[in-house]
Amino acid sequence: PPEVVPQAPEDPLFGLMRAYKADPSPNKVDLGIGAYRDDNAKPWVLPVVKKADEILRNDPEANHEYLPIAGLAALLGRAADLLLGPSSPAIAEKRVTSVQTISGTGAVHLGALFLARFYQIQGVNRTVYLSNPTWANHHQIFTNVGLPIATYPYFSKETRGLDFEGMKASLSAAPDGSIILLHACAHNPTGVDPTPEQWRDIAALMKAKKHFPFFDTAYQGFASGDLDRDAFALRLFAEEGFELVIAQSFAKNFGLYGERAGCFHYVASPSPTSAETTTRVASQLAILQRSEISNPPIYGARIASIVLNDPALFAEWQDNLRTMSGRIQDMRAKLRAGLEALGTPGRWNHITDQIGMFSFTGLSEAQVLKLRSDYHIYMTKNGRISMAGLNSKNVDYVASAVDKVVRE
Ligand code: LMR
Repeated sequence: PPEVVPQAPEDPLFGLMRAYKADPSPNKVDLGIGAYRDDNAKPWVLPVVKKADEILRNDPEANHEYLPIAGLAALLGRAADLLLGPSSPAIAEKRVTSVQTISGTGAVHLGALFLARFYQIQGVNRTVYLSNPTWANHHQIFTNVGLPIATYPYFSKETRGLDFEGMKASLSAAPDGSIILLHACAHNPTGVDPTPEQWRDIAALMKAKKHFPFFDTAYQGFASGDLDRDAFALRLFAEEGFELVIAQSFAKNFGLYGERAGCFHYVASPSPTSAETTTRVASQLAILQRSEISNPPIYGARIASIVLNDPALFAEWQDNLRTMSGRIQDMRAKLRAGLEALGTPGRWNHITDQIGMFSFTGLSEAQVLKLRSDYHIYMTKNGRISMAGLNSKNVDYVASAVDKVVRE
């Protein structure tokens, strides 16, 4: 009967995008979705992606055949190298298996599905612990596959930095063997990452508790502008010998948002049987993938693969990443300076302390709604702004609007 299906609310982020597009104001500013924009508020096709596209279009062998179930082989190995480092012992010892996915969302989903099916060691808790806050979609992806979720403290409202003590206390109190979702870098939505020393403490604590790390990495290259530095946490946990999984997105760092390019990786702990374990995991991932999407999309995977397999294009990609992260850092400095010059009540150092695509401004929901209705500035209700929506033309307007709503 029709009444069995209740009306669901619109996705808040895509609803925000729709409202922004419908707003006729010439002053409107989109600080909503985490997608890079250039200084003219336009999407930026990375120059290196344009080159790869040209290579692909001139390839007489290119066609529209199915990829294998696990995806494009030329991409998978390089995608793992990018995370774990090309000289990673885990890769050399064949302890890594990778599957191409529908971007980061598909990778988180495949990992969630895999864990829902196989992470059931007797007596071990299967709850997935998410940072509070986290990317809103994490909640529904894990819930959809039937895994219970809980949260650990992450963001301190006082310092607008990491609530490290709260996080550690919560991970210590969680039952042994819990699944812990960690953002590898450029935490979404807060822009707050643990320091290398804090990551070491988290790894030690998780090892003592036998927790299972589930990394989500959607912003490699956006946090520091350096791909290796942004992989610090992943490499640390791999070196520490954890069995772990990684969801990797190429949406942001290649600007391939709509092409849905990404990978899921499983890494086994070092042991005499780890290569066999990895082969068995690969066989199960293939079954899950086949039943969900059969085989992944080809275009974005080819673009990423062309770049990752060509040293000159790879170097150019790193340059493109520095352009994006550099412009974002510039906007952080300008927004902070604008607010400080206006004497806006409060401290604004967190805008430059936070990293990656987002800043968690500390603005209240009422202030966010006022910015939307009175100034046509769009951001999520939790006060997150996508820094890439700021540019040299609108940053002063945004600073003065924030100044006004903060003073009300
Ligand atoms: C975001 O958080 O803005 C992005 O990750 C886009 C998305 O899919 O939510």
